[in-house]
Amino acid sequence: MSDEKRPALPTRVWRSIFRTPLTPGSERERKRVVLDHLVLHLRPVRVPNRTLPFTHTFGLGGMSAVLVLLLILSGVLLMFVYEPSPERAYGSILRLRDEVRFGGFVRGIHHWSANLLVIVVFLHLLRTFFTGAFHGARQFNWVIGVLLLLGVVASNFTGYLLPWDQLSYWAITIVTGMLGYVPLAGEWLQSTARAGTEIGASTLILFYTLHTTVLPVLLVAFMAFHFWRVRKVRGVVVPYAYDEAPEEKPATTLFVPDLLAREFSVSLILTAAVLVTALLFAAGLGAPANPGMSPNPAKAPWYFLGVQELLLHFHPLFAVVLVPLAGIVGLLAIPYLKYDAEISGPWFLTLRGRDTARTAALVAFGATLVWVLVDEFVLDFGRWLPWLPGQVSEGLIPVTIGFGLLAGLLAWLKRSTGATKNEIVQAAFAAITTAFLVLTATGIWFRGQGMALTWPWRV
Ligand code: HEM
Repeated sequence: MSDEKRPALPTRVWRSIFRTPLTPGSERERKRVVLDHLVLHLRPVRVPNRTLPFTHTFGLGGMSAVLVLLLILSGVLLMFVYEPSPERAYGSILRLRDEVRFGGFVRGIHHWSANLLVIVVFLHLLRTFFTGAFHGARQFNWVIGVLLLLGVVASNFTGYLLPWDQLSYWAITIVTGMLGYVPLAGEWLQSTARAGTEIGASTLILFYTLHTTVLPVLLVAFMAFHFWRVRKVRGVVVPYAYDEAPEEKPATTLFVPDLLAREFSVSLILTAAVLVTALLFAAGLGAPANPGMSPNPAKAPWYFLGVQELLLHFHPLFAVVLVPLAGIVGLLAIPYLKYDAEISGPWFLTLRGRDTARTAALVAFGATLVWVLVDEFVLDFGRWLPWLPGQVSEGLIPVTIGFGLLAGLLAWLKRSTGATKNEIVQAAFAAITTAFLVLTATGIWFRGQGMALTWPWRV
């Protein structure tokens, strides 16, 4: 074959790995069988053709796994330099940044992968929810997923303290302080999380051990179980058009190479993106921790700012205990609610499902914004109803109003569109998620000194 007629080099490499017909009994065939067996313990042998397009899953589950891998690799490298004691932790990060070759780069990879992982896992949760991937045999895998999400947040949170700068010290002080609001067990929970009454050497050792040993081992074990459950149900849910019925026996293709090649490409692009980001933007480091001087504003890590925002509007018992607890229980309960039908595959169930979810999200967006503003400048149930205990005037009453508004919205959607139970649950989920995102964004960008509302851009 002349050079002009040969395919491009990447295509040839690709084909040589995945497409070359193998001679039976050859060494290459043996290697391929070993590779297949390794991969196929965790992934299905055949997958439905219709699940291949990128826009069905956006590769989010695989991306989460790649980020976990990057975190483990970069984390092990960081452990060679990091010293978990209040006297030496900050200095070891400085040394990593200024003296160790590629130290800042490795720290950047760890930092950006960790933050991206929270976002990607959350998007993966949205994808699995909005394609109805939690029914039937997938019910329990959703529960494993929720545990993975909690594990990812816990890993991030325990790592937050390690640099021992002002930001990390005070963020952990705030969040562990929130535990004090839990009725009866509050004090015990707070001192357990801090390994003492104050944040100090024992807290750092506790967080370091959880972050570098306990949580990674649990995450990897749960991830393996999560993958295996996907394999057991022969891959992800199969999409179909709104005006079609699901296929009884969808056409399938081999996981190796058809899906593996796609997953491999996404992994390479993601890894490259993280490396470039780590090269261009260093992970931040503030002044060394000073237990005697709190920064203003003192904020929790960004993924907890939705909860910190709730604390500005509701009594602590509701803001940091009951509402977050209801959120986690609600997430775990999603697969076990009673539905009209088990619809899995198409995004947003049906055309009407898509419209009701969009309407619910838009209304929740507007209503949460209005609530944040009105509560900041007008509402003051505590002052208006001074004879009631704070749990009622600043907790039960506003939370009941909030959920009452949500119930009203869902009832209106049901009456005006004739939505099914599945579509109503989906609309409720869309509304609650949107409200949570608005609260988180408010906490990140619109809270300044003294946690007052501010405009983040200078005008
Ligand atoms: C470290 C965190 C996680 C990792 C590494 C992970 C990984 C994966 C992978 C690779 C898949 C198959 C392909 C794909 O959907 O992209 C998958 C499917 C699935 N994941 Fe996750 N996941 C994680 C967290 C979660 C969370 C937070 C949830 C939801 C609460 C969840 C629920 C599911 C479900 C229900 C499926 C089956 C999807 C289907 O059948 O269409 N996962 N996960």
